[in-house]
Amino acid sequence: MQNVKIVLYGVGAVGTMIAKFLLQKKGVEIVGAVDIAENKVGKDLGEVLSLEKKLGIKVSSDIDTILEKAKPDIAIHTTSSFLKDTFPQLAAIVKHGVNVVSTCEELSYPQVSEPILAEKLDTLAKNYDATVLGTGINPGFLMDTLVITLTAPCQRVERIIATRVMNAATRRLPFQKKIGAGLTIEEFKRRIETKQITGHVGLEQSIGMIADALGWKLDKISVEAAEPVIAEKAVESKDIKVKAGNAAGLRQKAKGFIKNNEVITLDFQAYIGAKEEYDAVKIEGVPNINQKIQPCVHGDLGTVAMVVNSIPKVINAPAGLHTMKDLPIPSAATEHLRKYVRS
Ligand SMILES: NC(=O)c1ccc[n+]([C@@H]2O[C@H](COP(=O)([O-])OP(=O)(O)OC[C@H]3O[C@@H](n4cnc5c(N)ncnc54)[C@H](OP(=O)(O)O)[C@@H]3O)[C@@H](O)[C@H]2O)c1
Repeated sequence: MQNVKIVLYGVGAVGTMIAKFLLQKKGVEIVGAVDIAENKVGKDLGEVLSLEKKLGIKVSSDIDTILEKAKPDIAIHTTSSFLKDTFPQLAAIVKHGVNVVSTCEELSYPQVSEPILAEKLDTLAKNYDATVLGTGINPGFLMDTLVITLTAPCQRVERIIATRVMNAATRRLPFQKKIGAGLTIEEFKRRIETKQITGHVGLEQSIGMIADALGWKLDKISVEAAEPVIAEKAVESKDIKVKAGNAAGLRQKAKGFIKNNEVITLDFQAYIGAKEEYDAVKIEGVPNINQKIQPCVHGDLGTVAMVVNSIPKVINAPAGLHTMKDLPIPSAATEHLRKYVRS
């Protein structure tokens, strides 16, 4: 069986974790790597991944040349969160007729925030016979695809509440910094105002995806600004000490309304010292559904898996821009990856 050939577009934190996972997975072959970071371009991928051996793949900033030479089955794209930034990158991949799976949060359901770019990308992908998917653990699974799946045995759905609580102490330092852990409340608020802390990107997209799957026409989606979770007593991670009264992390809510009724609520909490970590979905309907995953799914491990497990489904799908709700039910692809690809 032939290996599935993959080009990595973005070799940052997530791209690196995906690359390391792919290197020990059966049925895949990394055939190129693209990034713009000065400390990566021109280096061997093995060095960029901090491996002890070279891989014979030079990280390049030139996507066209890489795709032209490598002719991959798919590109894994992990550069940034907003479609207005990633659109040119995705378009460049698609124009080579190459499929893409991306962790760009807005791409998970771009119809809500970037409908024009979503349509353009869909048309472009169809014209060049390529398939595009935005996915990850969240958005991509925990607060949307999983929620949608759990509505399947319901005769009626009146209200949905999904909650994710993470103890940030067990996560990477950049993540802890991103959620403002350790800052005074004043500094936290200043960083929110200056958009240095953006909160979780993807809540709006998750709500849009759930509503569309259920055929609900929402009158409004509101994404609240992230609020600091204030440490009641001193807490710490390996790298950050949080004094009592300072921000241990953040909490952010997003809501979907039909005629002033809050029908979808997403509640995202990530802070150092969270005692109970979980992913919970509560569906009020007939029947009621109460599901809780404890501890919560590990974000990095889950993201890597969601991306790699999606590869065969993306290759098998017709050309165009797809979202998780349009593809077959998500599942692990633990065997030789080609086994899951229809020829
Ligand atoms: N959906 C989900 O569940 C999920 C989960 C995890 C992450 N994400 C998202 O995935 C994205 C990647 O995350 P990350 O932690 O890996 O970020 P990161 O560490 O910042 O890595 C991104 C890499 O891409 C490079 N890059 C930026 N713009 C580029 C361009 N135009 N062409 C080529 N390379 C470019 C960056 O270079 P520079 O450093 O020079 O900019 C960096 O090396 C983020 O937007 C993150 O929020 C989503």
